[in-house]
Amino acid sequence: MNAPQQSTERYDFVVVSNRLPVDRVIAPDGSASWNRSPGGLVTALEPVMRAADGAWVGWAGQPDLDLEPFDNEGIRIVPVPLSAEELQRYYEGFSNDTLWPLYHDVIAPPSFHREWWESYVEVNRRFAERAAGIAAEGGTVWVQDYQLQLVPKMVRDLRPDLTIGFFNHIPFPPYGIYSQLPWRTQIVEGLLGADVIGFQRVADASNFSRAVRRLLGHLTRNPVIEVPEGAGVRRVIAKAFPISIDSRSFEQLAREPRIQARAREIREGLGNPRTVMLGVDRLDYTKGIGHRLKAYHELLREGRLNAEDVTLVQVANPSRERVEAYIQLRDEIELTVGRINGDFSTFGHNPVNYMHHGYPRDEMVALYLAADVMLVTALRDGMNLVAKEYVASRFDEDGVLILSEFTGASDELKRALLINPHDIEGLKEAMLRAIQMSRRDRSSRMRALRRRVLENDVARWSQRFLDALADVKRDRHGSDPDPLGELEWTVPRAPSS
Ligand code: G6P
Repeated sequence: MNAPQQSTERYDFVVVSNRLPVDRVIAPDGSASWNRSPGGLVTALEPVMRAADGAWVGWAGQPDLDLEPFDNEGIRIVPVPLSAEELQRYYEGFSNDTLWPLYHDVIAPPSFHREWWESYVEVNRRFAERAAGIAAEGGTVWVQDYQLQLVPKMVRDLRPDLTIGFFNHIPFPPYGIYSQLPWRTQIVEGLLGADVIGFQRVADASNFSRAVRRLLGHLTRNPVIEVPEGAGVRRVIAKAFPISIDSRSFEQLAREPRIQARAREIREGLGNPRTVMLGVDRLDYTKGIGHRLKAYHELLREGRLNAEDVTLVQVANPSRERVEAYIQLRDEIELTVGRINGDFSTFGHNPVNYMHHGYPRDEMVALYLAADVMLVTALRDGMNLVAKEYVASRFDEDGVLILSEFTGASDELKRALLINPHDIEGLKEAMLRAIQMSRRDRSSRMRALRRRVLENDVARWSQRFLDALADVKRDRHGSDPDPLGELEWTVPRAPSS
């Protein structure tokens, strides 16, 4: 393991996340290459990092890789190694079989294992040491997501000169659920090592403040938490910073004639049905993929939808494929898809087109343009950036977004067709309503959604967060109001439609 002191690199701005923006992929012939990593975190942070000239500390997606820091498309990458056993205990175990289900309303039952927790502590320490080892004097460290909740306090203990932010990309659960966690106090203390703790929704921030009051008895005055330190208190800010995407770059891609041609080609490939519905998700039990398939299947069975008129395209990105709940989910979804197609396919037409792999961004934008109805039916989701990508891509002000109330995005995207995915009848009604909606209604809704997504883009999100960090820094040290100096965005700012 690299001792942090050995590094001579120093950065004013360091992002720390479990996953790097690129994954090391080994082909069957043994050759190695780098692929874009899955998930909303990377989608949101990549443009921020390109603009910031800092370093990104994270894991390269394969066990037992000890790589030197390197540059990738304008981002300095600092890999942290994980052993095969840590992968199983810290990542698949504690992060994705304990915290993930617990933080998503226990949709799947969380497992609690002490060896997993020990590994989580150990790996969090490694990330903290790496970040502390490369941060410049008085610099800023921004820690991301549930896999690294102990890192803020560990970094603070090692480097009290640093300003530390933490952003939770997933929900923070209500206390009644959170309190099941045997290590609930240590996690809250870990997070309170940060100066600013960001959440997706106001409800997440208040759940966290309540946990702090209940477990530690600290004074909280929204958004401030007073953490006793020495003879005084340290003020920590905990509040909502709803994340977004680089909206303009989606719009710009969608405006390219080659992408529009590809969208037409996709529709033709599907047999030019009257309606194309689309779902795009990591294959995760929080996404409500089974609920949407059930609603669709019933509409076909009841004859309220004609199988010849409609196609549902479901892109399911492979995810956490060795965790039992994900293995089971894949079986369930693929069984259901097989049943629907078995019941309603004809020569040349399948009511469901199911893809168990990801696509590059160009292809995704073409798919968004090809889809009349976008289905986001998550049972719980921190934000759901796919909903925002669809809206950002629809410069033609067409298309209907069906959006679950249980996503962070629904706090902002009020003119979507909001649904409760557990209410299958309601979901069916929404699907029919979306399919039958007039062009006028579609445009007026899409215009309102687009205003929101184009205004509140990822540049604004990170600027708001970094401004909050700068305020804390100014209060504390009475110096340097901007933790990044002059931040110049490279996210394109094309005129909006
Ligand atoms: C969500 C999480 C991210 C995670 C991503 C992909 O977006 O918030 O932290 O990186 O899913 O999941 P994975 O386990 O493959 O990193």
